[in-house]
Amino acid sequence: MRAVVSDAAGHVGQRVIEQLLDLRWDVLGIVGSDAEATALPRGVTGKVWPKRAGAFGKALDGIDALLLCEPVQGDADFDAQVKRTTGLITAAVKAGVARIVLVSSAHVYAPEALVRGMVTETTPLGGDEGGNVAVRQAALSLESALRDVADQVECVVLRPLMVIDRDQTHLIDRAWSVMQGGGATWDGDRLHPIAASDLGDAVMMALRTPGAAGHAFNVASEQAVTIDVALQEFRRLRLVLSDCEQQEIQVRPPSPPAPPVLSLGKAQTLLHYRAKRPVWGVLSTLAQAAVDKGRAEGKVDPRKFQMPAALLAIETGEKPLAGKVAVVTGATAGIGRSAAVLLSKLGAKVVAVARSAEAGKALMDELGSHSQTTPGVFKQADLSELSAVRDLAADLCKEFPQIDILLNNAGAVFNEREVTSEGIERTLALNLISPFYLTHLLADPLRAAEGEARVINVSSEAHQNSALDLADMQSELSYRAIPVYGKAKSGLIMVTYLFAELMQGSNVTINVVSPGAVRTEIWRFEDDQDTSNLGPQQLQRRNAMRDRMRMNMISPLESAGYLVNLAMAPEFAGASGYYFDKNDRAQSSEATYDRPLALKLWRYVEGVIEQTTGTKITGGQEAEPA
Ligand SMILES: NC(=O)c1ccc[n+]([C@@H]2O[C@H](COP(=O)([O-])OP(=O)(O)OC[C@H]3O[C@@H](n4cnc5c(N)ncnc54)[C@H](OP(=O)(O)O)[C@@H]3O)[C@@H](O)[C@H]2O)c1
Repeated sequence: MRAVVSDAAGHVGQRVIEQLLDLRWDVLGIVGSDAEATALPRGVTGKVWPKRAGAFGKALDGIDALLLCEPVQGDADFDAQVKRTTGLITAAVKAGVARIVLVSSAHVYAPEALVRGMVTETTPLGGDEGGNVAVRQAALSLESALRDVADQVECVVLRPLMVIDRDQTHLIDRAWSVMQGGGATWDGDRLHPIAASDLGDAVMMALRTPGAAGHAFNVASEQAVTIDVALQEFRRLRLVLSDCEQQEIQVRPPSPPAPPVLSLGKAQTLLHYRAKRPVWGVLSTLAQAAVDKGRAEGKVDPRKFQMPAALLAIETGEKPLAGKVAVVTGATAGIGRSAAVLLSKLGAKVVAVARSAEAGKALMDELGSHSQTTPGVFKQADLSELSAVRDLAADLCKEFPQIDILLNNAGAVFNEREVTSEGIERTLALNLISPFYLTHLLADPLRAAEGEARVINVSSEAHQNSALDLADMQSELSYRAIPVYGKAKSGLIMVTYLFAELMQGSNVTINVVSPGAVRTEIWRFEDDQDTSNLGPQQLQRRNAMRDRMRMNMISPLESAGYLVNLAMAPEFAGASGYYFDKNDRAQSSEATYDRPLALKLWRYVEGVIEQTTGTKITGGQEAEPA
């Protein structure tokens, strides 16, 4: 099959060509200059627009499809665009093309309809006044040229309202003006854009869907945003993308999307088409391009880019973890759940571990049903039982020969001393022995990862005042919830340092992090505490303190951002054996640097595992750190 793609060097054309080549089509790309022709992908023949419209000679012989991918927008020379495209349509029809797909513009509709409500393909077209007249006239001329040949070829028209890519200077300049405090200069009360890559996908659907012939379709992101929300978002992104360090602006506030300007039902039902990039991702591409331009012109501080890599990738819709496997324990609630969603948005296949099958299913449904997330796998296991850890690891090793990220996040605080069915105090079992054991058991798939595999152990600030007590590891002599929890988290830090020594020289790095004080269910232990010995005033003071503390806590999403960043950001490549306070390298308590004590702890934990599971930790993992 043979296709001709106009504006082949543009973002829409590039996306279309990528897919045509995958389908083994023969492609002729029409471009603006020789330089663009030589930059086309291998296997594509380039042709510069002929000086005389339609003078293509034999270049179009044998073509099956003509894909007109040049968006009608901006401050282009529309007369020239219409003339050359009309000439190409005529030449293609003469050459016997079977189908033509035209990227037109939603500005063909009556301008007042675009402002008022949701526009369907049967909405009246506009005249000579109001709205974006130049764009409308150009798009109407192109559609009319197509209608003239509709009895000879199959024609499909796509009508986007606003196509965004990183080269749209007129949009970038507008975004930049807004970001610097200027006002909005967009038509209408809502922005309803589409990413150029998504429009390219729509062109391919229009080419390949037999029933699309003879139809016009609206195409855009699923949602729109009102101008005032877009303004706020651009201004926030200006700060974020200019390296502002305020953490609270780095996570987008929950701004309600607005109803779409374009009704998309026809594209969804007839073409089965849905844009992949959400409206926020599309706008952030524009904001990023504007800040890059500002930086190139010296208007933005050229300081090192500081937005966490994980959040940046999510803002811009990139998938740096595509093809990677990330095991997250405690992934169904709190920090772990947010981390699982972030990792999945970054393209990783998340293997989520927790006890509740119901919460596991809800997470899997969420990861599987959004276009931005990657479907994951749920594994049910009670990680305070070492036999369950062993079975889980055996299952994971079989299913995932390579694991790229292990986030040992599951943890809990218990008000009363409890003992697991295997006879281990539960805080110790869940917060220290379980992640230790799981990391050992997953050493092979971690080592088999392509490139660096990162293990992140989640500890807590609570370790600061709770030194390890080897004489009473099971807290039989004294039990108080937080000190016992802190003791286990101290131990986790100590074994992390030894693990890093053990893994030195391999592709596996391991670090431990305090995730901050985070508003999650873990704090319910406080609500469950027995307060019957407190008088009314004491109780009131305690509750007031508790509430104040909770108000100052960070969100699970913010905390997860730190963990995920440690698990993937290039700036931490190769770092191993460190303690992080959120995203910053920090010192853990002095007691955790006691190496001889850490070695004793290591042996103690190994001993418990051996006694409990009957298995000695074997293979390359059994070596004791030097
Ligand atoms: N929140 C904070 O302020 C804070 C501060 C410092 C450190 N941390 C640490 O951060 C980590 C996450 O805490 P969080 O606040 O997000 O807790 P959370 O909201 O209570 O969530 C805990 C997660 O772990 C799972 N889990 C609990 N017990 C488990 C078990 N026995 N086996 C398997 N999964 C289990 C839970 O799911 P199921 O119940 O379904 O199993 C849930 O998915 C913990 O290691 C915690 O110690 C938290």
